[in-house]
Amino acid sequence: MCGIIGYTGPLMAKEILLEGLAQLEYRGYDSAGIALLADEGGAALNAGGAASTFSADSGVWPAALSGAGAMTAAEALGDTAHPTATGVRRRPTASHAGPSPITVIKKTGKVKGLRAYCGSLPVDGHCGIGHTRWATHGGVTDANAHPHQAGEITLIHNGIIENYQELIDTFHLQGKLLSQTDTEVAAWVLDALVREEVGDIAKAIARLLALIRGSYGFCILYASRPGEIYAVRNVSPLVASYTPSGALVASDLTAIIPYSRSYFVVPENALVRLTPYRIDVTGPEGDPITPEMLEVNWNVDAAMKNGYPHYMLKEIHEQPRAMENTILPRLDKGLPDFAQDGIPDAVFTGCERIHIIACGTAMHAGMVARSMYEPLLRIPVAVWVASEFRYEDPLVDGGTLAIVISQSGETIDTLAAMRLASEKGAATLSIVNVKGSTIARESDYAFYTHAGPEIAVASTKAYSVQLAALYLIGCRAAMLRGKYTPEEAKVFVTNLLDAIPAMEMMMGQKERIRGLTSHLIHEKDAFFIGRGLDYALSLEGALKLKEISYIHAEAHAAGELKHGTIALIAPLVPVVAIATQEHVFAKMISNIREVKARDAFVILVSKLSAPVGDGVANVRLSIPDLPDAFCVFPVVVFLQLLAYYAAVGKNLNVDQPRNLAKSVTVE
Ligand code: G6P
Repeated sequence: MCGIIGYTGPLMAKEILLEGLAQLEYRGYDSAGIALLADEGGAALNAGGAASTFSADSGVWPAALSGAGAMTAAEALGDTAHPTATGVRRRPTASHAGPSPITVIKKTGKVKGLRAYCGSLPVDGHCGIGHTRWATHGGVTDANAHPHQAGEITLIHNGIIENYQELIDTFHLQGKLLSQTDTEVAAWVLDALVREEVGDIAKAIARLLALIRGSYGFCILYASRPGEIYAVRNVSPLVASYTPSGALVASDLTAIIPYSRSYFVVPENALVRLTPYRIDVTGPEGDPITPEMLEVNWNVDAAMKNGYPHYMLKEIHEQPRAMENTILPRLDKGLPDFAQDGIPDAVFTGCERIHIIACGTAMHAGMVARSMYEPLLRIPVAVWVASEFRYEDPLVDGGTLAIVISQSGETIDTLAAMRLASEKGAATLSIVNVKGSTIARESDYAFYTHAGPEIAVASTKAYSVQLAALYLIGCRAAMLRGKYTPEEAKVFVTNLLDAIPAMEMMMGQKERIRGLTSHLIHEKDAFFIGRGLDYALSLEGALKLKEISYIHAEAHAAGELKHGTIALIAPLVPVVAIATQEHVFAKMISNIREVKARDAFVILVSKLSAPVGDGVANVRLSIPDLPDAFCVFPVVVFLQLLAYYAAVGKNLNVDQPRNLAKSVTVE
C-alpha cells in the first residue's frame, strides 16, 4: 500500500528513484511521482549532529553505478577534508526564502508512464524521493499523486492520517490545499511548524508526529537542508541502508537490495536523517539510537522475473524450494524443532484455545490449519478475519494462543488484532515472511517463512509456506500434547516432504491447465466446492481467480450449495470440485452430481486412485495418492495455475490487478 523511496548520494537520483519505484510498484500502482532536489555540480553537505552514524566502509564506488570511475567516496562527496573538491552547497541554508529548488514530477498511471514523462524533462539531482500510490484519500488524479509540497516542505507518505480534518481546521488550511489527500495536510502543517521552530526541522517533525493520529511512513525534503532526507514511521514499513553508492530509504528491501545487502528497519518514532555520507538515527529526545543491522537472506535475482513472463508464474514455480527452505532447517532427527525460532514448548503445552488471525490469502491458510488442528489437538480453534476479530469481543485469556499469519508482516488489521489479543492476555505467535516487519517484532514469537520476496499481488508461494509452517506447528503441538508419538510425528513430516514433489508434478500439468481456461475465460461466474480441507482450499481458489481474472468466483462447502447457491448453476457454468478427502469422498461425488445434473461444466480434482464414476466431471485432474491432509499442496498449485492462465487468457495485468495492493496498511 504505497511504495516509498528516498536517495541521497553521489549518483544521479532520478534513475535510482524510478528503478526503485518499479520494484515497489506492487505496493500500489495508480499513480507515481518523484521529487528531485536540483543541484549545482556536486554535493558537499554539512552533516553535524550527535547521532549514531552508519557509513559505508569508505570504499570505492562501483564504476558501473557511479559512472565516476574509480573515485573514492571522499572525492565524489567533496569531503570536508578536501574542501576544493566539490564543496558547493546547492542552495542557501536556513535563510533560503526563494522558490523551492525541488522539482516534483507526478502523474496518474504506472511508473512506466512516469519514466517516459521524466525522460523528456532535463531535470535530475543527487537527492530525491519517490512514491507509488494506492489511493485512499482522494481519487486517482495527478494532484493527489505524491510528492506533495507546501512552502519549503516536500514529502511522500504511506498510511492514513485520521485526524486530517482537525488539522485543516487548526492550521487554517482551507483554501490552501491543492489536493484531496490527507498527506498534503501533513505537508502544510509541517511547513507551518518548521517556520515556528525557525528552521529546526527535527523539532518541527517531532511536533508534527505528536499531532497526527494514524499510521505513517514519511520521507521529507526540506528546501533549506539540501541533500538531506528525513524519514519517520509509525506502523507503515520503512527500511534504510547506507551503501557505497549513497544513502537509501524505502518501503521495502526490493528497492534497496541492488545497492546493499545490509539494512536496518527504521525504528518507530525515531527520526532518521539521510545525508550523502551517513545516516543518523535519533530518538524523540534527540538521543542517538543504534538500530540493529540486518542482512538480506536472498539475492537480487529473487526479486526479478528471471525469464518468466510474470512474477506470479515465477513465484508459483518457486514453491517447492520455498517449502524446503521453510521446513528443512526446522527438522531435528526428522522431527519439528523450533529452538532456532526461540519458541518454547510451553507455548503449545500451556494453551487451552487457539485463535488464528489473518487477512486474505493468509486467512485461507488459517482455515486449512483450523480444519486440521481441532480434530488433532482437541482444543477449540477459531479462525478470524482480522478486521472482524477486533470488534467481536472474542474470548481471549491467558490460556489463549493467537497465531497471526501475514506475508508482509505489516497488514494493519492483522497487527491491530494481534495487539488486542496480546492486551487480553494471549500469547502471540506470528507466521511472517518479511524479516523485521512490525508483526514479527511485536509478536511474542516469530516463525519466519523463507519464501523470499513475493512481488505479484496475488499471493502464491507465501500461502504454501504459511501452510508448511502451520503444519509443522500442528505437528509439534500434537507431539508435545501427547497426541502424536515421535514415530507418528516423523511420518507426518515425511508426508509433508512428499507433498513437495507432488507440487512439482502439478506444475508439469500446466499446459493442460492452461487448456481448461479456454472455456473459463468466457464465463462471468465460477464456483469452487469442497468439504473440510478442500472447502478451505476452495476459498483460496475462488479468491485467486477473482482477484486476477475478474471472473466472479464463489467458494462453498459442497454440502451447502443446495441451500441457495445452486440456483445460479446453469448450463456450462464452471464448477471446480475438489475431492481429495476420503472420508467425505462419496458425499462429494453426490454434490458434484447435483451440479452436473444442471449441466454445469465440472472440473474435478481428486487423487489418482479415487473411484470416480463415468459422467461425474467434464474434466478430471489427478494428484498423487497422498494422505488426505497433504493433498492441499498439489491442489493449490492447480488453483493458482488455473487463475494465472485465466488472467493471461484475458490479457490482463496478472501481477498488478486492478484496485488491489500487495500489503494493506489501512483499516
Ligand atoms: C492483501 C493482499 C493479499 C494478502 C492480504 C494479507 O489483501 O492483496 O494477497 O493475502 O493482503 O496480506 P499479508 O501480508 O498480511 O499476508
